Amino acid sequence: MKQVLLTLGLGVVLLSACHRHDAECNQQIISDNVKFATQQLGRQVEIIEESGKILNPRTIRCDKIYYVPIDDWTSGFFPGTMWYMFELTGDEKWKNLGVKYTEDLDSVKYLTWHHDVGFMINTSFGNAYRLTKNEAYKEVMIEAAKSLSTRFRPTPGVIQSWDEDRGWQGTRGWMCPVIIDNMMNLELLFEATRLSGDSSFYKMAVSHADVTLKNHFRKDYSSYHVIDYDKIKGGVRHKQTAQGYANESAWARGQAWAIYGFAVCYRETKDPRYLTLTDNIYNFLFTHKNMSEDLVPYWDFDAPNIPNEPRDASAAAIIASALYELSTYDRPEYKETADRIIASLSSPAYRAILGTNGNFLLMHSVGSIPHGGEIDVPLNYADYYFLEALLRKQAIEK
Ligand code: GLY
Repeated sequence: MKQVLLTLGLGVVLLSACHRHDAECNQQIISDNVKFATQQLGRQVEIIEESGKILNPRTIRCDKIYYVPIDDWTSGFFPGTMWYMFELTGDEKWKNLGVKYTEDLDSVKYLTWHHDVGFMINTSFGNAYRLTKNEAYKEVMIEAAKSLSTRFRPTPGVIQSWDEDRGWQGTRGWMCPVIIDNMMNLELLFEATRLSGDSSFYKMAVSHADVTLKNHFRKDYSSYHVIDYDKIKGGVRHKQTAQGYANESAWARGQAWAIYGFAVCYRETKDPRYLTLTDNIYNFLFTHKNMSEDLVPYWDFDAPNIPNEPRDASAAAIIASALYELSTYDRPEYKETADRIIASLSSPAYRAILGTNGNFLLMHSVGSIPHGGEIDVPLNYADYYFLEALLRKQAIEK
């Protein structure tokens, strides 16, 4: 507790110093994090390179770094992190690593058994194509968008997230489960239409966003995690959760995916309904009685033992990145909020000490408490969105 108070105290001192020298502090927080990430991720990569294998770190399990196979939903984040490091440092070393770890995911473009192919390919090949314009990467993205499209169910008008008969999901009695996370797959579809000229990807993305906007949100603009649709007759069968505390609770990362996903939809379509929704999600998040002082949410806004519940740094990083984008749509106060989140994540309360934390950047994320896994651990997607937020902040400061 003494350590937490000391850390928070230090954070407050740093923040008030920052109010006095805003521009200088804004630059300093970026360069300090880039310096740290260069060293910390440098060590992470060194271990992998020394193994002589291509490994993809996701988190720590049983005190060891846990590496994932390429069909894991998180496999795009580590290659994507290499690309963000290349952008943040200009060092070709990161580009070479980005190429190597991205190209290892090539066959993911054919993955059709879950919706996360959008996440996986957009964070790896999407960044690779954006930064290199390599035509081969473009083809991978279009192929992946085709794979994702096989999961579009025309009657309800959504992309089915999980198979109704596979794994633990198969025990829930769902017919066409769609999770709010699925909003994050739409960016690949928008991009695929730009790259291929085939507007069907764009149309599927808009249909999915519209149906999600209609069914996934409560009156207070918190989001359900899972909506189960009837794929024959259309319409909603169930409104439930898989990773949150309860069916009617607000799972923190779900709210993060929602605000980020609809920010992307506004960017791509300029439909004002999507921007209004992000404003409403923002108000839900930042006026909520259980939003923490340091703006790093508890894993679920309705978790029963707040303040004695784990935080989710991944949700904070995703929200910060989304807010930097939204701040450019005439919402300067969103940047101030994002800056406060980044200040918290950069403090010793969340940012690891060099050489610890499996050489991941951020501590204190949550994978899935109901599944009993990844509680208060580092996660590769927390690091990915943290670096993305820093890049967006840097672009805005300039
Ligand atoms: N998309 C899975 C998660 O956010 O945990």
